Amino acid sequence: MFETLKPQPADKILALMQMYREDPRADKIDLGVGVYKNAEGVTPVMRAIKAAEHKLWEEETTKAYTGLAGDPGYADVMIKLILGDSVARGNIAAAATPGGTGAVRQAFELIKMANPKARVFVSDPTWPNHISILKYVGIETVTYRYFDRETRGVNFDGMIEDLKGAEKGDVVLLHGCCHNPTGANLNTTQWQEVIDLLNARGLIPMIDIAYQGFGDGLEEDAAGVRMVAAQTPECLIAASCSKNFGIYRERTGLLMAVSQDGSAQALNQGTLAFLNRQNFSFPPDHGARLVTMILNDEALRADWASELEEVRLGMLGLRQQLADELQRLSGSDRFGFIAQHRGMFSLLGTTPELVEKMRVDNGIYMVGDSRMNIAGLNKTTVPLLAKAIIDAGV
Ligand code: LMR
Repeated sequence: MFETLKPQPADKILALMQMYREDPRADKIDLGVGVYKNAEGVTPVMRAIKAAEHKLWEEETTKAYTGLAGDPGYADVMIKLILGDSVARGNIAAAATPGGTGAVRQAFELIKMANPKARVFVSDPTWPNHISILKYVGIETVTYRYFDRETRGVNFDGMIEDLKGAEKGDVVLLHGCCHNPTGANLNTTQWQEVIDLLNARGLIPMIDIAYQGFGDGLEEDAAGVRMVAAQTPECLIAASCSKNFGIYRERTGLLMAVSQDGSAQALNQGTLAFLNRQNFSFPPDHGARLVTMILNDEALRADWASELEEVRLGMLGLRQQLADELQRLSGSDRFGFIAQHRGMFSLLGTTPELVEKMRVDNGIYMVGDSRMNIAGLNKTTVPLLAKAIIDAGV
């Protein structure tokens, strides 16, 4: 049997992680995988997570199964964090999943189950694993223009024009905030225009939100998702706690199915539980429990939010420093977009050849599409990166 297997393509982001590890150069810079790192290059366990873990160790009395959809208390706090009061709780079905990727996968399976003919429209570019999972699940993918390679902002006219090619029942995948890989995001007026188009054409929004709190703030980053959830008849939302709680390896995500028709909730909830049962049965609980404890405890929550804010402001500072340094070296404003982008990433917008050149010459590891993880920098490495960018002729 095994001899029939074919080698699978390596995931570009994860392959880069491995190459970085194997590079012996002491001054190498890792701008690859989307993991937050502090100025010392460490991905710390957040203070509130440590405190909650300590408390959990003392108080937890059983590790028996939770429910197929995970602990309902986890869904409640996450729904509140992401959707605020934009939708009545009774209109939302939700299930815990193994990470944000688990939520994305379950959402695609639900789409396939509900409407096998639905196509999923994804931004060009999008997180490569979106496309890979869609292909694996057997859903047709269509790209819509998103990134303007001249301005490095959103090509909004192109996006709208391409979404007009979608047909009733098709799904449009949107990034809730901190677009991965570009860092270019929709403003409120643009979100509204997209919502109007979705509603006019009968398209179903699916939102992937993996970086809430990394862009303009916890509330601000949820604004677009809340508008979509409040104004469209149905939507799917895949959320991750990996980044904003720093619990990457705990695999903590949530899939929500929102319907303005409250009578759909029981069916949707049953479907999410069924999908969990088929794929992995009960979702992981440890990370979800920590998140629940933090969000339900005033002091822990305040500490978590303030540490997240430090992280966010740190990345904004690095963005500004890099944009300033590039302006100084190039004598032009053409890199100003780096300070405008939000979230962990910026797409530099250069060729794979120049990305490769910077890796070989300077030990700088960015993803081949020129995505840079801003959190991989610190005050000392920013000037090195800026020089490498200019020397490479970007
Ligand atoms: C990324 O985009 O780097 C992260 O979401 C990690 C991953 O799984 O690819």
